[in-house]
Amino acid sequence: MALRKENILLVDDDIDILELLQRHLQSMQYHTYKAVSVKEALYILKDTKIDLLITDIQMPEVDGLKLVKFAGEHYPEMPKLVITGYPSVDGALEVIKSGATDYLTKPFTKEELKQAVQKAFGQERKRNIEKRIADNQKGKGYPEMIGESEAFQKITDIISRVKDNKATILINGESGTGKELVARAIHYSGKFSRSPFVAVNCGAIPENLQESEFFGYVKGAFTGANENRNGFFQAAEGGTLFLDEIGTASLAVQTKLLRALQEKEITRVGSRKPEKVDIRIIAATNQDLLAAIENKKFREDLFYRLTVVEINVPPLRMRKSDIPLLAAMFLKKYGVEYKDRLLGLSPEVMRILERYHWPGNIRELENVIQRAVIMSDGTVDVKDLPENLKYQIEFPEGDLLPLREMEKEYIQRVLVHTKGNKTKAAEILQIDRKTLRDKLK
Ligand SMILES: Nc1ncnc2c1ncn2[C@@H]1O[C@H](COP(=O)(O)OP(=O)(O)OP(=O)(O)O)[C@@H](O)[C@H]1O
Ligand SMILES: [Mg+2]
Repeated sequence: MALRKENILLVDDDIDILELLQRHLQSMQYHTYKAVSVKEALYILKDTKIDLLITDIQMPEVDGLKLVKFAGEHYPEMPKLVITGYPSVDGALEVIKSGATDYLTKPFTKEELKQAVQKAFGQERKRNIEKRIADNQKGKGYPEMIGESEAFQKITDIISRVKDNKATILINGESGTGKELVARAIHYSGKFSRSPFVAVNCGAIPENLQESEFFGYVKGAFTGANENRNGFFQAAEGGTLFLDEIGTASLAVQTKLLRALQEKEITRVGSRKPEKVDIRIIAATNQDLLAAIENKKFREDLFYRLTVVEINVPPLRMRKSDIPLLAAMFLKKYGVEYKDRLLGLSPEVMRILERYHWPGNIRELENVIQRAVIMSDGTVDVKDLPENLKYQIEFPEGDLLPLREMEKEYIQRVLVHTKGNKTKAAEILQIDRKTLRDKLK
């Protein structure tokens, strides 16, 4: 097994304890440095990146708590573990006051040491995650939306250019990529944020109701129209109307939308009197509108009116560098909601998350983390992931295989995983045992 990358500095004037600590920690794959005095420790700290400090208290010359205090000032991010021989209440209090992350009482077992070290690193990881999220959110008009990839940067750049004007915007992107969030970010970070944001899912309104829902109607316009009623346009006055799944708007609505965009006025159903409207329209689609234009399902002139500004939200698999931060944010959100604390993620889980192709994009990532937090009893581990993530195939880049070969390799992999248990393997592959037997032949 490869060495972990964490460096641990051990400080104790007792050589035997130093040796013992080193032996234990090395067997846990940590890299260790030894110092017999605070003075020596300071030299090492100056030249080496130390991830954890473990120090004794009682030492000739300078004592360990002074070292912890010094490290607290100069290396605030580094967790500090104190080994104490006197577990009195006063002593413990003094240790914590010095800024130590935790303490360990002598004599300790290897298991106790391991737990203390893991806890210290866990706390540090959580602090780092919190800090990374906070840094990403700092100074943002809409901190709910996070990301650090170049693609994400581009989107936030466009948002800052459009948020304060009423140019019409079309947002393209696969399902679950965050189109609605982008629309909300534009509205709520801009200067019209105090006016309404009205979100309408065009696909959810029956075609025969679309016109009256969008533009309102006047009394007597149709049977049952007993009074004048506002539509979404009137409701969004002064603010933003978000038209989700614009590709599903009826052709009649499209014609009126075009007029609303061109003339900045609308007409209620049953009325002849146009009304002025002052709103920004943001439309979104996961459909190929150009294909819809070809098929005469979408008006070409409307398309060009809508795309004054176009924002393409790329799928998660094309901006994988956003995954760690997003995962951290969902861990925080659901950890606090379900477990009252921030859980960690095992490195193996992180690797799986980064490798997966995320057909459901960020919404799927959120669901996976939510579920994992509920299933986990501490750090989120591979066992807490849904089956389809656990057994995903690793595609060797550039080294593509014919389907038959791939199938063979994959079946073998599943069998290795199930330790040769064919019933279990058939279950994972979702084929019956007989099919599996045939394939194995
Ligand atoms: N950058 C982001 N930061 C944090 N959360 C995000 C981000 N992008 C998307 N999400 C979350 O992912 C989920 C899906 O986002 P949203 O509803 O905006 O996607 P969508 O593109 O509108 O999907 P659909 O096409 O299915 O309507 C939401 O819960 C949203 O909060
Ligand atoms: Mg949506």
